[in-house]
Amino acid sequence: MDTNLSMSTWIDACATEEIDEEDLISWHHEGKAYAIYNTEKGFFATDLMCTHEAQSLEDGIVVDCVIECPLHGGRFDICSGRALSAPVSKDLATYPVRVENGRVFVDVASAGDAGRP
Ligand code: FES
Repeated sequence: MDTNLSMSTWIDACATEEIDEEDLISWHHEGKAYAIYNTEKGFFATDLMCTHEAQSLEDGIVVDCVIECPLHGGRFDICSGRALSAPVSKDLATYPVRVENGRVFVDVASAGDAGRP
């Protein structure tokens, strides 16, 4: 059971079918931009902007559970947000995702600290 339920803010973001396999879409909610991914491990959400420079990851390449930034090729682990290769060194924020009845919900109030050990 989710003991943090009262702190969660689950928002209906999109239909699962809106995101191709091994791809992502951008999603905007209350002035903030998110990336929502469809990977072999399921659906995930992170901040949309690369942590290196102000570059959207929307046109990045998804391979397995890694997103490669389209500008300089920095890579992040989609599941954890962890920065994997230069020039990125700061992790992406991640957000809990759940799928119900073909819809993807994002808990926008629970940004994960991707830098956890
Ligand atoms: Fe993303 Fe440089 S802006 S790696």
